[in-house]
Amino acid sequence: MKIIAIANQKGGVGKTTTSVNLGACLAERGVKVTILDLDPQANSTSALDFVPGDHPSIYQHLIGGGDVSELVLQTKYPNLSLIPCDMDLAGCEIEMAREDDHLVRLRKLLAPFKNKNQADYLLIDCPPSLGVLMTSALAAADELIVPLQCEYFGLEGLSKIVGVHQQIRDSGANAEVVLEGIVMTMADSRTNLSAMVINDVREYFPEVTYETIIPRNIRLGEAPSYGKSIIDYAPTCSGATAYRALADEFIRRHA
Ligand SMILES: Nc1ncnc2c1ncn2[C@@H]1O[C@H](COP(=O)(O)OP(=O)(O)OP(=O)(O)O)[C@@H](O)[C@H]1O
Ligand SMILES: [Mg+2]
Repeated sequence: MKIIAIANQKGGVGKTTTSVNLGACLAERGVKVTILDLDPQANSTSALDFVPGDHPSIYQHLIGGGDVSELVLQTKYPNLSLIPCDMDLAGCEIEMAREDDHLVRLRKLLAPFKNKNQADYLLIDCPPSLGVLMTSALAAADELIVPLQCEYFGLEGLSKIVGVHQQIRDSGANAEVVLEGIVMTMADSRTNLSAMVINDVREYFPEVTYETIIPRNIRLGEAPSYGKSIIDYAPTCSGATAYRALADEFIRRHA
């Protein structure tokens, strides 16, 4: 099992949308995926049709230890499972920060789960801040995927996350984590700005930037309120086509 953090400290850039829909499209292709909802907003938990708080989240385990496999819920989609979140995870930041080993706690907790190989990929939907939860996701991850909104301020956010990635590597918390990909999201084909930002990112990160661009698509915004993935809610819309293409590209890159 490979652990992939889907992270960007900037809010609203498509982390959750990418976690859920890349996960669903990989699962559709027969790849076994577990999504770990590490964001106290619990958006990927509700997007996958669970009620935050109905099931135990990783919170107690992060504080007291335990077997992560017990937390895994099968979603309504074959090959796709979820480790849900509840609001308690917000308090977790504070409690964890008191512990000396807070940066590597998640990593230690996930190690036995990783070895069980119940899934091919664990996608971690990270919260939008540079706090303990997000940095511990990077410390636990094999790879980092950064969703980046196609706008000017997106680029500023990118340089911050590249800095955090470097810090995690340098700190010894996780020397191996690689920046696997940058996924350009919410692209608007009618504006020059989107095209300019995409060109800039491709110039600086030619290898890492995914070819597939996720367009702005209203259906992607609607699907979570029905507790559905995009390929279930609107299988032929441009958002569904894009996330399927992203999953295919992901599979090629990991072959
Ligand atoms: N490609 C898209 N087109 C249109 N709307 C989108 C697209 N991607 C995401 N959205 C919508 O934009 C909002 C932010 O997206 P999302 O929740 O995935 O971002 P996030 O990075 O997880 O946010 P947060 O930092 O709050 O966790 C949501 O309402 C989502 O439905
Ligand atoms: Mg989110």
